[in-house]
Amino acid sequence: MRLKICDNPQQVGYLAAADIALQLNTKKNSTLILPTGSTPLPVYESIIKMYKNGDVSFGDAVTFNLDEYIGIAEDHAERYYNFMMRNLFSKVDIKPENINIPDSRTDDPDGECKRYEEKYRKTGGADLAVLGIGQNGHIGFNEPGTPFSSVTHVTSIAESTVKANSRFFDNEAQVPKKAMTMGISTILSAKKIILLATGKSKHDILIKLLQQTSANESIPATALLLHDDAVIYADREAITG
Ligand code: PGA
Repeated sequence: MRLKICDNPQQVGYLAAADIALQLNTKKNSTLILPTGSTPLPVYESIIKMYKNGDVSFGDAVTFNLDEYIGIAEDHAERYYNFMMRNLFSKVDIKPENINIPDSRTDDPDGECKRYEEKYRKTGGADLAVLGIGQNGHIGFNEPGTPFSSVTHVTSIAESTVKANSRFFDNEAQVPKKAMTMGISTILSAKKIILLATGKSKHDILIKLLQQTSANESIPATALLLHDDAVIYADREAITG
């Protein structure tokens, strides 16, 4: 697991966007795993600029999002489908049929997870995965204790994550308590992984992650220690606190 320290979140965003562009320019029909949350916003802003400049196309790209809430209104701004349309997909040339996000409208979340994992596995594994990290070390909605062998599954969102995500909702009670998430083994099947960590709120977990010498399920992000091409892009604030 390598570490690259950047000056600020914009530089983190630029670097990750450049990696996505390089991947798509090397192999047009690449499969990408993509995150939501506030950390990836500068990545999407940068990649949209690159697209507008003619430096990258999503014309043949296939994307799989990491996760989605269960029990969120179809038109809610925080439904990850809506988040992705607003912040990336409506602004680049991706084909709607190549966008994959677990469907929050399902009445069978377990079946939806099975379908999602099967569809993802048919791609042969993603070429590149971009991840955020939760303050408790989660990746996707794989909260502490999730087995590294996990595939896409229904999960309960940890109380601390509900609290952290309540900033996007009117109040904490509105935050869904369940989600569908790619599992850790699903994520590890990507050929290359970039983990983004920016801001003071990620300082404690980032330092804890960097201190680990072996993967352990109590800190899900340590699964990256099991991967041979994983890199962390962190900004100075996340490093210094
Ligand atoms: P954030 O979320 O980017 O909004 O901090 C990251 C995560 O919880 O994985």
